[in-house]
Amino acid sequence: MTTATSGSLETLGRNELPPHLDENLLTPRFYTTEFDKASKTDLDIARKDFEAMFKEMESDYNLKHFDRKASLERLQELSPEDKSVYESYLVRSVVSEFSGFLLFKEISNRFKKAGRAELGQFFQFLARDEARHAGFLGRALKAEGINIDLPNLPKKRAATFFPLSWVLYSLYLSEKIGYWRYILINRHLKNNPDKACAPLFDFFEPWCQDENRHGDCINLMMRCWPGMTKGFRGKILSRFFLWTVFLTHTLTVCERGDFYKLLGIDPVLFDEQVIIETNNTSKNAFPWVYKFDDGKFLKLRIDILNAFKKWRATEGVKKPVALGKFVVLIIKQFALPMEKTNATRYG
Ligand SMILES: [Fe+2]
Ligand SMILES: [Fe+2]
Repeated sequence: MTTATSGSLETLGRNELPPHLDENLLTPRFYTTEFDKASKTDLDIARKDFEAMFKEMESDYNLKHFDRKASLERLQELSPEDKSVYESYLVRSVVSEFSGFLLFKEISNRFKKAGRAELGQFFQFLARDEARHAGFLGRALKAEGINIDLPNLPKKRAATFFPLSWVLYSLYLSEKIGYWRYILINRHLKNNPDKACAPLFDFFEPWCQDENRHGDCINLMMRCWPGMTKGFRGKILSRFFLWTVFLTHTLTVCERGDFYKLLGIDPVLFDEQVIIETNNTSKNAFPWVYKFDDGKFLKLRIDILNAFKKWRATEGVKKPVALGKFVVLIIKQFALPMEKTNATRYG
């Protein structure tokens, strides 16, 4: 999980990057949270389910899946432009997986230090998976002649502080949206094998199951803090994080639509599908989710996208007006009706 933000080229690896790789893609945001509070997690609230999930993570189903010897070099005939689109996708993904690894690793260490060995081990399993994902993407990049010095990426950037509830809400969503993104791409490529331009895509199915499990692990953590999903607090946190994640997804997928087009996927439809599925899945963890029956949320997405493009294209005195229109639309989307779920029944 991560958000790409601006940064310095000095944080990159030793190898110079091809010019099409934007330095912004390479600087993830790293998070820190209320670790002392986290160490007081009351596991007894969900003890039975925690033990089942622990066993599942311990079995390490994908131990042999990410074959380190598998050749990732068989790229179909791609034009230089398409190749750069593929490489940019790899870079964004590797940074995202690696920042997930760092956060899980840090949480794991803090739990261990606080004497919460089983929780420490639990998060170690999550860190293990993300490190594997990042390593695999790193290999695909290497096959393209690009080396990214991952361990040095976070060194020049202060971590962003998020309260524990924020971390759990955003982690849950980032894992589940990651799951839907990978599985929808996988399903599409299975139906259109001629579009699977890189061997990397052959690995997506078990990969997305990792992300799905991670989301379930975070859901368990949320259940151990029932106050997080109750009352007004639960409603505002659900609204805020669903809205932020969906808005970011719409803007980034549609802005970087080239990658999806390369795979023969319509980015706007893909974004819609990912949002619908993630909102639906979130009913298992969040007390409220957006109501999509009336079609307003999804329709507004298109207006937001157009307003965003217009703002980007406008110059001079008209720019603030274009920005104002965009802001009004996103606030309208934020305030759209939500529906109550059964997720707090455990509390
Ligand atoms: Fe991952
Ligand atoms: Fe994950």
